[in-house]
Amino acid sequence: MEALDAIEHDVDASFLPVQSDPELRAVYARWLGREGAVTLLMRRMPELPGPERKTFGQAINRVKDKVEAAKTVCEQRLREHARALDLGREPLDVSLPGRKPRVGRLHPLSRMMYDVIDAFVAMGFDVAEGPETDWETNNFERLGFPPDHPAMDMQDTFFLQQPDGATGPRALLRTHTSTVQVREMLSHAPPVMIVAPGAVYRRDDDATHSPMFAQIEGLVVDQGIALSHLRGTLDTFARKLFGERVTTRMRGSYFPFTEPSVELDASCALCGGSDPSCRMCKGSGWLEVGGAGMVHPTVLKNCGVDPEKYTGFAFGLGIDRLAMIRYQIPEISLLYQNDVRFLESL
Ligand code: DAH
Repeated sequence: MEALDAIEHDVDASFLPVQSDPELRAVYARWLGREGAVTLLMRRMPELPGPERKTFGQAINRVKDKVEAAKTVCEQRLREHARALDLGREPLDVSLPGRKPRVGRLHPLSRMMYDVIDAFVAMGFDVAEGPETDWETNNFERLGFPPDHPAMDMQDTFFLQQPDGATGPRALLRTHTSTVQVREMLSHAPPVMIVAPGAVYRRDDDATHSPMFAQIEGLVVDQGIALSHLRGTLDTFARKLFGERVTTRMRGSYFPFTEPSVELDASCALCGGSDPSCRMCKGSGWLEVGGAGMVHPTVLKNCGVDPEKYTGFAFGLGIDRLAMIRYQIPEISLLYQNDVRFLESL
């Protein structure tokens, strides 16, 4: 009875520190588990004589009830605590608008490139591609550059590091897409009618020059090709891409690989030539978009084409210039800064 009294005295206090269901089960088992203090006393009941057994049995039942009652109170307390925690949490507000993922899209220069390609493909051109690293023979020599041409200087061209002791032509990052003209003529007999889009590299880096930029090259070689074909092709192209508001003109120029050579200008899309202080055309009314000309007979010969039989025209256009005209962007550098606010406005 003394042991039972001690238990009865401790029961309520034993549940007070309980903070979780496992703890609750452990405290309960301390009293009424298989090895619990009350259970062990109960097992000893048969040792008692009849009358005392009855009294002790009643006392045991009272203590068992007390343990069960304390357990119920404790359970209640744990439940209320959990609920209070739950209510105190930040509520889930299903009426809040969702967060919209930002949808990406092509950069204006990529869009421009795809549209330029489409325009030429619609005129019957094939698309040819060449490597961005090439030999100096394809980039300069076969195109008629004299060996001391300043473009071959280290200032202008990125040459690749040569293996030790290597002789022969040096490898470089192509400075223009005209390398593909050479490759195309060396690998295909005329008629040839291709455009070659791609990245080109020069050691230039300022507000209006990026060390990497994109060009598209065109080459047509066949019997009886004349400058008028070039003029018509570029005119059709410009009208298709920019509509009637933009006109083009050709100016005499010089390139080692064409004779005659011309520069292709497009009328200023921003001011149309009416603003002497225009930021885009600097008041001239025209924007240079590329070079072109009749393929030089020496270039044809260098590339295995008989210049007595065939003639051809070629052109090279700067994609960023075309994008400036299309989107009426006065500063070329805006296209390379990749400020999303600017790009989304186009
Ligand atoms: N390759 C020249 C450049 O990068 C552009 C060019 C001029 C390409 C005349 C041509 C051409 O095909 O005929 O500046």
